[in-house]
Amino acid sequence: MSLSELYKETILDHYQNPRNRGRLDDADIANRGHNPLCGDELELFLRIQDQAIADIAFTGRGCSISQASASMMTEAVKGRSLADAQRIYEAVKEMMVGSGATDDLEEDLEDLLALQGIKQFPVRVKCAVLAWNTLKESLDLYLAGRKEAESRPTTGPMAVHEG
Ligand code: FES
Repeated sequence: MSLSELYKETILDHYQNPRNRGRLDDADIANRGHNPLCGDELELFLRIQDQAIADIAFTGRGCSISQASASMMTEAVKGRSLADAQRIYEAVKEMMVGSGATDDLEEDLEDLLALQGIKQFPVRVKCAVLAWNTLKESLDLYLAGRKEAESRPTTGPMAVHEG
């Protein structure tokens, strides 16, 4: 399948049939991220058990890319150890806003390659990384021992250069 077919098919599928959409009442971390360009928001819930993501869910409003990317992110990290989730985040970061390399993406996560297709629309990259930055911030908060975060922009981990 070509990248553009993978892009269209995967993004559409996750947008129309979002995985892990909803809230978790028993979340260890509830965090909110927003895309400063459009104001769209994403709420992320994680339940952590034995240093792994036992459950994850998201709600929020936003464009098809932001919602599809959130669905893909939750599917990619659910059930993974916190260290694995960090690694997956770093691999996506490298692919989306770094060198573009995809070597660190595990084979069973090849659906995530579809996110590369978004790079042809630079203004939409922030939509695609919203969920991933919110994940990163959530993991950092958890590791820092905080239970719940205040709403704040997710500008730090995967900053997208405007241009
Ligand atoms: Fe708002 Fe994409 S336009 S997240």
